[in-house]
Amino acid sequence: MKYNILKPVALATIVSAAAVPNPAPQTGGDGPYTSYYFADATLTDHTIYQPKTVPTGLKLPVLLWGNGACADDGTGFQAFLGEVASYGFFVIADGPINGTESKSTTSAVIKASLEWVTTNGGKGAYAQVDTTKIAVSGQSCGGLEAYDLRADPRIFTIGIFNSGEFAATDSKTVAGSITKPIFYFLGGSSDIAYANGERDYSDLPATTPAWLGNYPAGHISTFINPNAGVVGTAGTRWLQWLLQGNTTAAEYFTGTGAKKDGWTAVSQNLASITPL
Ligand SMILES: *[C@@H]1O[C@H](CO)[C@@H](O)[C@H](O)[C@H]1NC(C)=O
Ligand SMILES: *[C@@H]1O[C@H](CO)[C@@H](O)[C@H](O)[C@H]1NC(C)=O
Repeated sequence: MKYNILKPVALATIVSAAAVPNPAPQTGGDGPYTSYYFADATLTDHTIYQPKTVPTGLKLPVLLWGNGACADDGTGFQAFLGEVASYGFFVIADGPINGTESKSTTSAVIKASLEWVTTNGGKGAYAQVDTTKIAVSGQSCGGLEAYDLRADPRIFTIGIFNSGEFAATDSKTVAGSITKPIFYFLGGSSDIAYANGERDYSDLPATTPAWLGNYPAGHISTFINPNAGVVGTAGTRWLQWLLQGNTTAAEYFTGTGAKKDGWTAVSQNLASITPL
């Protein structure tokens, strides 16, 4: 039930309302490794993003992604996912290439990504994938899917984009149980998920490393902009820091980078983060 509540503001709805003729394809990204997406027959109902050419020796940490509206569309967020992949990440999104937002996924689909990548990563055709470094995240309804993997020991960090639990009791049990580093990217007070995301942050254990930023672009943030704009930058810096140990990227959150980009942020215990 709750997975459908954010549906009216699904990415595709916003795209058509804004009369964007054809926002796709937007893959490639502005990182050092131009990215692309593809499907693997052994992982149906998903779309994979990675650098087109993976330099010898480069290991790709993993991002698992649940879409806004929990849409079964692996290319709906391609501007963002292609951007992340271009910085040297292996991204698995819920839904097939050119899927549909009229079909919803559940967190079983993002869980399937985790099982598949830990089975197939690090060897054979996926030797470049580093399965010791995995983040889970999602936008809106997809953020709630990501929460469902919070306790899995294979997940190192969680990213919640424009999302939060609907019920105060769920906020207490879900956010209240999170001990791994968690980053919230909200859209300001006009974001339908603003109050829920803020409450989740406030319900985190006092010792959990966490950052919450608001960029005042509303619920869909800048996801449909080329390379996903500001949210593309912030999401990428989060992963560069936590999964690649990039100290310059860390300063986006611990220094002035996010603020310069227009984020208003709060944080706790960031100094206790030891990147993988
Ligand atoms: C997906 O849609 C894009 C844009 O319309 C198109 O260029 C591409 O060929 C499609 N891919 C598949 C696998 O259907
Ligand atoms: C670290 O992150 C910064 C900011 O994205 C980037 O400019 C730099 O190339 C990264 N360094 C490495 C070694 O990846």
